[in-house]
Amino acid sequence: MKLVHGDCREYLFTCELDSIDLTVTSPPYDNLRTYNNSSTWGWAEFSAIAAGLWRVTKPGGVVVWVVGDATIKGSETGTSFKQALYFKEVGFNLHDTMIYKQKGTGAKGSCYSYWQGFEYMFVLSKERPKTVNRIADKIGKYAGKKSWGKGKTEDRGNRSLSRHTNSMISIRDNVWEYVVGFQNSTTDRIAFDHPAIFPEKLAHDHIISWSNEGDTVFDPFMGSGTTGKMAKQLNRDFIGIEIDKEYFEIAKQRIEGTQYNQPINRTQKDAPVI
Ligand SMILES: C[S@@+](CC[C@H](N)C(=O)[O-])C[C@H]1O[C@@H](n2cnc3c(N)ncnc32)[C@H](O)[C@@H]1O
Repeated sequence: MKLVHGDCREYLFTCELDSIDLTVTSPPYDNLRTYNNSSTWGWAEFSAIAAGLWRVTKPGGVVVWVVGDATIKGSETGTSFKQALYFKEVGFNLHDTMIYKQKGTGAKGSCYSYWQGFEYMFVLSKERPKTVNRIADKIGKYAGKKSWGKGKTEDRGNRSLSRHTNSMISIRDNVWEYVVGFQNSTTDRIAFDHPAIFPEKLAHDHIISWSNEGDTVFDPFMGSGTTGKMAKQLNRDFIGIEIDKEYFEIAKQRIEGTQYNQPINRTQKDAPVI
C-alpha cells in the first residue's frame, strides 16, 4: 500500500515500468468542478497522463477512465471521446465503452436538453485484458420459467426441440447504475468533504472484474480514496496519488481505517462471479 501526496505526472514517469495491473480513476475534467488545488487541467496534462498510464500498465493490464463532458455555450465539449481516441493513439485497446448511470442525483442540465444522468467509463487495455471476471447478477426476465429450445441429442448429434428451465441470473450488461449521494455512494461522512466522489460499488465492481487478489490497483487522482478503500477490502495492493493536501488526508484516513478482506455489502452479494 503506497499513498502519495503529490502530482501524479511526476510519479507516472519515475515509478517502475509495467507495474500496475489495474487503474480505476476519475480525472478532473472540463473544469466541471473546482477542487482546492489550482492545478490547470488541459490537453497537455491529459496527454502526458495518457502516456504515463501506458508506461506503468502491465501488458494485459486495464485502465478504467471515468469521465463526462461539460456543456459550453450550448455545446457539449466531447472531451471524453477525444480522450478515448487519444488513448488508442497511445497504444491502448478501447476494450469497452461503458456507462455509469447515476440514480438519485436530482435534475442536472439546461431546460433545452434532457437531464444529464450518466458518465462514461472507458475500459482500456494494454493488449488483451489478462483478467476478465464478468459479474453475473442480472435476474433474467424469464428466470425459472420453462421454455423450448434446440439441443443436441445424445445418439446422432441431431438437433431436436427440448424443454429446459431458464437460469435465474445472467451476466450484466455494460450500463451500470448506482444510487449516488449522501449515504449511498459511501457511508463515510468524511468522503463528502470532497466534491466529486464516485460510488464505492463502482470501484468495487471494476476491481473484481479486471483484477485478482494480490494484484496492484492504482488511482493517480485518488480524491477521497474510494478506489483505494475498495482495493484494500478486496485484498489488492494499492498505489494512490492526490495533489491536494486536504483530500489526501481524507483518503489516507478512509484507506487506513479499512481492513483487508472486507468486501462491501451488496444486495446480490452472493451472486456468482464467472
Ligand atoms: C474527480 S476527483 C477524484 C475523486 C475520486 N474518484 C473519489 O471517489 O473520491 C479528481 C481528483 O484529482 C486530483 N488531482 C488533480 N490534478 C492532480 C494531479 N496532477 N495529480 C494528482 N491528483 C490530482 C484533484 O485534487 C481531485 O481530488
